[in-house]
This record gives sequence, structure tokens and C-alpha cells, in this order.
Amino acid sequence: MQSKPLIRWAGSKRKLLDTLVKSLPKDYERYVEPFCGSACLFFESKKKPALLTDINSELINALNEIKSNKEIRDQLLAVPNTEKEYYRVRSIDPSTQNANERAIRFLYLNRNCFNGVYRTNKLGQFNVPRGNKTGTFPPQEVFDSSRKKLKEATLRVATYHETLKSLKKGDFAYIDPPYSKSVNFTGQYGLGSFNSSHLGALFADLELLHKKGVKFLFSYRACEETISTLQMNFNVERLSVKRHISGFKNSWNEAEEILVKNYD
Ligand SMILES: C[S@@+](CC[C@H](N)C(=O)[O-])C[C@H]1O[C@@H](n2cnc3c(N)ncnc32)[C@H](O)[C@@H]1O
Repeated sequence: MQSKPLIRWAGSKRKLLDTLVKSLPKDYERYVEPFCGSACLFFESKKKPALLTDINSELINALNEIKSNKEIRDQLLAVPNTEKEYYRVRSIDPSTQNANERAIRFLYLNRNCFNGVYRTNKLGQFNVPRGNKTGTFPPQEVFDSSRKKLKEATLRVATYHETLKSLKKGDFAYIDPPYSKSVNFTGQYGLGSFNSSHLGALFADLELLHKKGVKFLFSYRACEETISTLQMNFNVERLSVKRHISGFKNSWNEAEEILVKNYD
């Protein structure tokens, strides 16, 4: 496992990695993550062609830049880690920047913001304050190994539905949507983010994947309705996961989550 994640991401599955790696299917031709976030399972997966997609265009642009730019860590270290600089960088409209500048902005804010949260206002502008645990970037080796691994992947901005409907027999998809219950606010991951009102449509996509011979692993919070719907056709495993309560130092709670798969 990478000693320090390249991208801090709320909902990252780093804590579940051992279980997830053991749950990967033995055989598949292509690895796909339609809600890729920091893609921590991808970085631990076998060498295979891959497709990583997410609705967050700043995130996908940053992964693309990490994939192609050997100098990116040095560029990031050149940006002063001060409060004044954080708010100056945050106020820049990324649509006025080139791909390299956008990636530097995204990765700098991600490293230094509160808890690695990605939240936007109604206009889609990133509005997370600077965190008090502002830290260093991972060592150059992590950037180098990530660049090498990302060479296996095609990266694309897409909704999960667009990605899932394009899959073919032989593909394997790790499906890890946000667990948000809220339907009305801009979402934990910005405008247009998945929420629980989209679950029915996602379950219909899972049935279609199964019919097409696409293997999938789906992770979600445990909820009795979801479990009873999915266990009719798929294998459902319950897990107890320790989660940090954001904003409260040393505070944790135990949450129940599920892993659902359509293969043995
Ligand atoms: C729980 S996180 C994924 C975490 C990831 N597995 C990891 O280990 O970092 C969910 C991701 O879904 C993305 N997302 C939210 N709504 C989406 C949608 N409708 N289509 C595609 N991606 C979406 C968010 O931007 C976020 O990166």
C-alpha cells in the first residue's frame, strides 16, 4: 500500500483495502472504477488495462497530470504553504487555467484543505477552508510509482451510468458511490453528485452488468432495504468499519457497510 495517499479523499477506501484486494475476482480483462475518487483499490490491483472515471473534472485532470508530468511534485512544493496563498489559490477560477495549472491548484488545495473534503457552493466553486493539519506531499517515489501505474489507465470525466453502460463481458467494475442520504444540497462531492435517490437506477445498472457477464464489486453503507434487494441475486457480505468523525480529533464510530459481488 502507498505509505501516504497521493490524493486525500473523503470516502477513500484505504481502511478497507486488505478486504477489497482479497475480494477482487481471480480473472478479468479490464479494471474499471466509475466513481474513482482517489482510486486506492486501482493502485493495489494487478497490472491490467483500466478505465477510471469520475464526475469531478478537476480530479480527473489532476490524475491525468500525475500520469504524464514527472515534475509535478516539484511544482507543488514551489507553492508557499501559507494561509494567504491558500485563499489566493482557492479564489482562482480553474476555467481560466491550463491543464497543468488546474492540476497544481487542485492538488495544492486537496493537500491543505480541511480533512481532504471536496465541497462546492451552488455555483460549483470549491469552498473548503484551509485545514489545521496542513501537510507535506508524499515522497517523489509515490508520484513515480503512481505515474507508472496510471499508464495502464484511461481517465475520463463521466457519470457512473455512462461508464457502466459502456462495459463489456470480461470487464470488472469496482463501484463505490458516495453514501450521501441528502438529495437537496450540492452534495458531499460537489454539484450533481450521486445520492441515495439514485440507488434504484444504480441497482438496475447492476442487473444489466450481471446479464452482460461483467463482474462487479459494490460497496455501500448497510441498510436493510438495500441488503434485502441485493441479496436476492448477489452475494452480500456485512463489514464493520471504524470511521473517523470529521472535525472531532480522536473520535471514531463503528459503521456497518456491505460488499456485494456477482462472482465467487
Ligand atoms: C466514495 S468516493 C470514491 C472513493 C474511492 N473509491 C477511493 O478509494 O478514493 C465517490 C466518488 O464518486 C464521485 N461521484 C459522485 N457522483 C458521481 C456520479 N453521478 N457519477 C460519477 N462519479 C460520481 C465523487 O466525485 C467521488 O469521487
